Amino acid sequence: MSENTRETLTITDNRTGKSYEVPVENGSIKATDLRRIKTGPDDFGLMAYDPGFMNTAACKSRITFIDGDQGILRYRGYPIEQLAEKSSFLEVAYLLYFGELPLRSQIDEFARQVLSHTIIHEQTKKFIDGFRHDSHPMGAFLSTVAALSTFYGEGKHIFDANNRLVQFERMVAKMPTIAAFCYRHSIGMPFAYPDGDLSYTGNFLNMMFKATELKYKPNPVLEKALDVLFILHADHEQNCSTTTMRGIGSSHCDPFTAISGAAAALYGPLHGGANEAVLKMLVEIGSKDAIPEFIRGVKAGEGKRLMGFGHRVYKNYDPRAKIIKEVAFQVFEVTGRNPLLDIALDLERIALEDDYFVARKLYPNVDFYSGLIYQAMGFPTEMFPVLFAIPRTPGWLSQWEEQILDPEQRIVRPRQIYLGAGKRDYVPMALRESAVTQTA
Ligand code: SDX
Repeated sequence: MSENTRETLTITDNRTGKSYEVPVENGSIKATDLRRIKTGPDDFGLMAYDPGFMNTAACKSRITFIDGDQGILRYRGYPIEQLAEKSSFLEVAYLLYFGELPLRSQIDEFARQVLSHTIIHEQTKKFIDGFRHDSHPMGAFLSTVAALSTFYGEGKHIFDANNRLVQFERMVAKMPTIAAFCYRHSIGMPFAYPDGDLSYTGNFLNMMFKATELKYKPNPVLEKALDVLFILHADHEQNCSTTTMRGIGSSHCDPFTAISGAAAALYGPLHGGANEAVLKMLVEIGSKDAIPEFIRGVKAGEGKRLMGFGHRVYKNYDPRAKIIKEVAFQVFEVTGRNPLLDIALDLERIALEDDYFVARKLYPNVDFYSGLIYQAMGFPTEMFPVLFAIPRTPGWLSQWEEQILDPEQRIVRPRQIYLGAGKRDYVPMALRESAVTQTA
């Protein structure tokens, strides 16, 4: 950019002939600058209309960077490919929250703190036991997470940095325990308590699958695969659930309540519930021969979507999907090949050759292959959104922390374009009735 380039937009309002100069900063304009554009003194001024926030930056962040066209994802500048290969989930959680990779003493202390919080209050079990045995684990999970706010009232002291850190460590620690307890309740198994000798993911597998053995021994391949999957799900900038986390957090409520709202947003099949929807879709397709008919139905708009495909930001292959696909083959070495994989691979091949998907830049996203791995590892399909919420916890809380510390942030309260009725007077019931009979 040459020195004399003015970092501004000049906007001419053709309704009035007036021109306005609006500063450009970080590739954006402040939407509130548009309010200066008025047709007269009583005019509220211009707003930007952006359903789904397709082109609206709601915050400035230094946590996660995505380049959707290039298929790039970085946490605090570190490429996801390197973190998946060389880091661990707890180290990534530390990185997201503190902004830097930890020294040995720092990660050891962080891991020790997290481990010390893995137990949940015995009374919490009463919440979980209160759910029907066949309740969806995500509903039980997010309700129990919300209940944590009633056990840790100090969570409300959100402007106390050390208090925020304690709640961060608590939630990273307790999410696997709550998830596993909700699962065990749904299958009528006694709760398996945390084992301090195991890794973060090893302990989660222990709490999920421990049977009558005295000490559960996680399969190291599955333990590592789950750790990589958790790294890949840890954050993803301003997605639907993180936006919800920031939105709820903007009212200054405690982080437990905010995170239960974020998990609720994640539950939807268009978001974190997509991994469950992918498995159901693959089962519904049933065989490779049925793929063409399924694709036809999607393209014909018969109310179906190719779940696990498409993304608001990635208009290229989701870099996480590439890594997950590799992990799938490692897991299947241990668990045996998931027969649905062949349908998924064929579905991907056919879709990537079909102009409907190519023209819309629809590629596999993080959810397309992850469910196949979870199923092969023994997780029931209904657990899949919970398996998304556990690792997203450090991401949600890091974004929440960043918002609390951001002086430009204020309570979320968007405007609207009102197209409803103008002023009209109340109509007594008798007149309403008579109006109906007259028109009948
Ligand atoms: C996640 O945002 C994040 O970062 C989320 C996430 C994270 O880590 O937090 O990455 C996790 O949520 C991944 C996405 C998981 N969801 C799915 O796999 C569900 C299937 N995908 C979609 O429903 C859709 O692609 C979204 C929701 C992911 C994105 O929706 P957009 O950006 O609002 O796009 P759109 O719905 O406006 O679709 C644009 C066009 C439409 O066609 P036209 O109306 O232009 O003809 O593409 C079509 C859509 O019909 N389309 C699909 C499709 N996704 C979009 N058609 C068939 N199958 C699909 N999956």
